[in-house]
Amino acid sequence: MWTKTRITQLLGIDRPILLAPLGGGPSTPALVAAVSEAGGIGTLAGGYLTPEKLRDDIAAVRAMTERPFIVNLFALQTPPMPPREVLERANRALDRYRDELGIAHAPLPERFEEDFAKQVEVVIEAKPAAFSFTFGIPRAEVLDACRRAGIPTIGTATHLDEGKALQDAGVDAVTAQGVEAGGHRGTFLGAPERGHVGTLGLVTQLVNTLTIPVIAAGGIMNGRGIAAVLALGADAAALGTAFMLAPEAGTSAPYRQALKSGGRHITALTTAFSGKEARGIVNRFLAENAGREMPAYPYQNALTRDIRAAAAKAGRAEFLSLWAGQAAALAEELPARELVARFVRETEEAVQRLSP
Ligand SMILES: Cc1cc2nc3c(=O)[nH]c(=O)nc-3n(C[C@H](O)[C@H](O)[C@H](O)COP(=O)(O)O)c2cc1C
Repeated sequence: MWTKTRITQLLGIDRPILLAPLGGGPSTPALVAAVSEAGGIGTLAGGYLTPEKLRDDIAAVRAMTERPFIVNLFALQTPPMPPREVLERANRALDRYRDELGIAHAPLPERFEEDFAKQVEVVIEAKPAAFSFTFGIPRAEVLDACRRAGIPTIGTATHLDEGKALQDAGVDAVTAQGVEAGGHRGTFLGAPERGHVGTLGLVTQLVNTLTIPVIAAGGIMNGRGIAAVLALGADAAALGTAFMLAPEAGTSAPYRQALKSGGRHITALTTAFSGKEARGIVNRFLAENAGREMPAYPYQNALTRDIRAAAAKAGRAEFLSLWAGQAAALAEELPARELVARFVRETEEAVQRLSP
């Protein structure tokens, strides 16, 4: 039975279908709860949230469902802050976009990222069905604290060595994030190019090498994709872009328009918005800044924040980070519950077709 896997057992869910974490707005408590209610499992993306907002969002999910859900954070080994003049130069290079949007030339931000240790405290206190993370491996104390609290941990790997490092660190499962995936690459070992492995190649290697369960992510948009990764040996599929047009998603209006536009299947990896490689629909900001040197994540991310916020408000998709996977053209505007029901039906059909 495709519906019973090590992941459905670990998380206490009916179907091995995950709403992938969608930080920066799309994964609202309502979307997370709807996917969990439908028999899959939602992931609350907490990486960009203050500890207080994270606590509130977890409470909001709990008010909507008693079903299990996952909380996701960024386990980033923060690189040293670049010299002030480098940040100033990078910030001034963005002023032409601020001028077009009619907003002030922002000074350097005071803070560049959220306090991971405080976010983790909130997660441990809340005891979600699992704690998932990307961009690295949390310190052993954090993983130990999760183990003591009975919270399974799920890391993100973009190549084989990252999968091995995560398993060696004692995590309970690994998300295999193929290069097709929308949003930031989780890559944390070696050059970014090492993580440019397709979902098919990555899942197969991780399943063959690791003993812990593998969750496949990247380019999965329907039940045929779910059946495909289960056939590769994955214990679950995580879908991100497929949920971004659901009415429950917090995807902004111009972002939704871009996801419905004729150019939505033209995506590229870029460091322009955040300093860390991420896949998004190609737009003017991405094209104009291709190949340019910029401060690493989280510094560039903090510098562009006011531009992205103003662009969302003004309906200017050309300045937004339009994170989306390579199969974005297949995203459908349906309530999350209907999407999950459809994915279950399609997976069933695909499995039947292959083994009549
Ligand atoms: C808008 C957006 C935001 C994302 N935010 C996060 C995040 O906060 N944490 C994370 O681990 N992955 C994040 N990702 C990556 C997804 O969890 C997942 O790997 C990806 O969506 C899978 O590929 P797909 O979009 O083709 O389904 C994000 C992806 C998108 C599209």
